[in-house]
Amino acid sequence: MKYSHLLEPGKIGNVAVRNRMVMPGMVTNTTGHSNPDEAAWYAARAKGGFGLVISEYNCVTMEGIAYPGEVLISEEEIPGYRLVTSAVHETEGAKIFMQIHHAGRQSFGFTLGTGLVGEAPSAIPCTNARQLVHEMSTDEVWTLIDKFGRAGKIARDGGFDGCELHFGHGYLGAEFMSSYINKRTDEFGGTLENRARFACECIKAIKKYAGEDFPVICRVSGDELVPEGRRVGETGMICMLMEEAGLDGLNVSIGTYANLTETSAPGFRPAGFNLDAAYEIKKVVNIPVMSVGRYNDPSVAELAITQGKCDYVLMGRQSIADPEFPNKVASNRCEEIIPCIGCSTRCGANAFDMHPDHPGVSCTFNPFSGYENYLQIKPAEQPKNVVVVGGGFAGMEAAWVAAACGHKVTLFEKADRLGGQANVAMMPPYKSDIARVIAAYTALCHKYGVEIHMNTEADKNSILELNPDVLFLTTGGIPIAPNFENEGIPVVQSWDVLQGKVVAGEHPLIIGGGLVGLETAEYLISQLRPTDIVEMNEDCSWGSSEGERLHLQKEFKAHDVTCYTGHKVKRFTMDGAVCENKDGEAALSGYDQIILALGSRPYNPLGEDFADADIKVHVIGDAGQKGGAFRYGIDDAAWLAANL
Ligand SMILES: Cc1cc2nc3c(=O)[nH]c(=O)nc-3n(C[C@H](O)[C@H](O)[C@H](O)COP(=O)(O)O)c2cc1C
Repeated sequence: MKYSHLLEPGKIGNVAVRNRMVMPGMVTNTTGHSNPDEAAWYAARAKGGFGLVISEYNCVTMEGIAYPGEVLISEEEIPGYRLVTSAVHETEGAKIFMQIHHAGRQSFGFTLGTGLVGEAPSAIPCTNARQLVHEMSTDEVWTLIDKFGRAGKIARDGGFDGCELHFGHGYLGAEFMSSYINKRTDEFGGTLENRARFACECIKAIKKYAGEDFPVICRVSGDELVPEGRRVGETGMICMLMEEAGLDGLNVSIGTYANLTETSAPGFRPAGFNLDAAYEIKKVVNIPVMSVGRYNDPSVAELAITQGKCDYVLMGRQSIADPEFPNKVASNRCEEIIPCIGCSTRCGANAFDMHPDHPGVSCTFNPFSGYENYLQIKPAEQPKNVVVVGGGFAGMEAAWVAAACGHKVTLFEKADRLGGQANVAMMPPYKSDIARVIAAYTALCHKYGVEIHMNTEADKNSILELNPDVLFLTTGGIPIAPNFENEGIPVVQSWDVLQGKVVAGEHPLIIGGGLVGLETAEYLISQLRPTDIVEMNEDCSWGSSEGERLHLQKEFKAHDVTCYTGHKVKRFTMDGAVCENKDGEAALSGYDQIILALGSRPYNPLGEDFADADIKVHVIGDAGQKGGAFRYGIDDAAWLAANL
């Protein structure tokens, strides 16, 4: 497949864009000023081939700031902006637009912390922020429009090639557009034309201050997915008015703060799930239209443009997972693309604790992302002999990174396939992108010349024969199998069910409400096997993101899966389990199989053999004390292997 549409140059206003792959605005969680880390972050995406990168949101007033790290647009910021824009422009042909923003009623009080009150078209608090907001007077609206205009000029002076108004996701511009939160009776409320006026006047103001030739695009939510919110037809009408006002392009997203789980959708949403909204809008305007939503596969992106449903494809989390996505597409190396699986584990707001001294956005499967100035693949001064035992994610990451730095790397895997526990993790519904990650890591191991021994259980002698300087023990974990008293019900491991090694019963009972247990239940739903879950804690562990939690809870409700939380198993019976709970004892019956999903314990059979060896030994991933191959193992592997 040639991806000729994705690679075709385009134009936004009169700015040439070298291809159709765009990185949308995404907060990087750095300091609140443009800085060398941000410059390196954006430059990496430009180098990686994105035709256009859009900055994270920058605010026009303090009242409109959405999170503490958001930059307030001012002339003092111009040197910082220039640092970022010139870093991007070092890559020939790369373009960068500034995202200009005001959070409206979605300004968070904790963010403001200054006694400032969020301002909005009408005094209706945000469903999340739950704070009183100030209804702007007509004069205040006109003053704010002027500030948007001046912000555009600052963007231009800062070296940006254009700007994007962030009028999507329920922020101020969207609030003016939507009658459910705009109850005004002046020229900014009421009719659709009046509700579009704020946006149209902002466009005109930017053109006035920054120049007619300075491209202005606008991010909108095609469908806001809230009661009485805008649907795609009405949004399209407003887009037509914005085009008349001089708009140069549209970025069609989805949702508001009331449903952020759709805005950055979890893995169960397929690539391009929001494309039809872009298409409906494209039908009514004559300016370029961009589509966003889980694009992680070049063929889906190519198809969207080939079908004429959009002109550009935005890749948010995919550009975090793999900044080199466009270059890999262009040079026919798609098998090396590290796909975004939509887990939001390290790019989500709850993920900034991995390296507290540098709490930037990153990716579980690409720890280099967001750490461009700190974690790099550089040719090793003294190439070493590296042995890796265990070809799961942590082992594969250590292997390819060390090999890419020029070390000689040998990897042993006792199974007939690489991936380790990822081979289990990829089996439940909507997790097949994990298989693509295994394939990408495998391709990277091959590319950098890792010598791989499959079906080979390494032992002390075979390792010593290789005379390694560095040894990575990444032998993973084994499932916990407690020895409960059992009156006769068959007991199996969730890993074996998920891997197709044992057939699930007609009505099994899952023990363990961690993610594996929950995803096993989802797998059983897809196998038409009704099930229930026993969890000793007061709640289950509902996955890596709010979106995943909501999805699983909805599925369980629809398929009558009961989670018996606060239930501690005492023994298994002929047809279920007796559990201890706050009321005493409960007998759960009517089942024909127990499926254990109680986590794993480290498996490190070679640790003792090398405890005193004159070799640098790293025990990481599930084999080590920290555990969590996905959360810690890959990250540890990258940092260690890049710094041998
Ligand atoms: C860490 C993170 C930060 C984000 N920050 C912004 C932002 O500053 N401005 C914006 O318009 N959207 C923001 N978004 C939304 C993304 O631009 C994008 O629309 C969303 O992630 C869906 O695209 P994807 O499925 O390709 O990731 C952010 C998303 C993430 C994951």
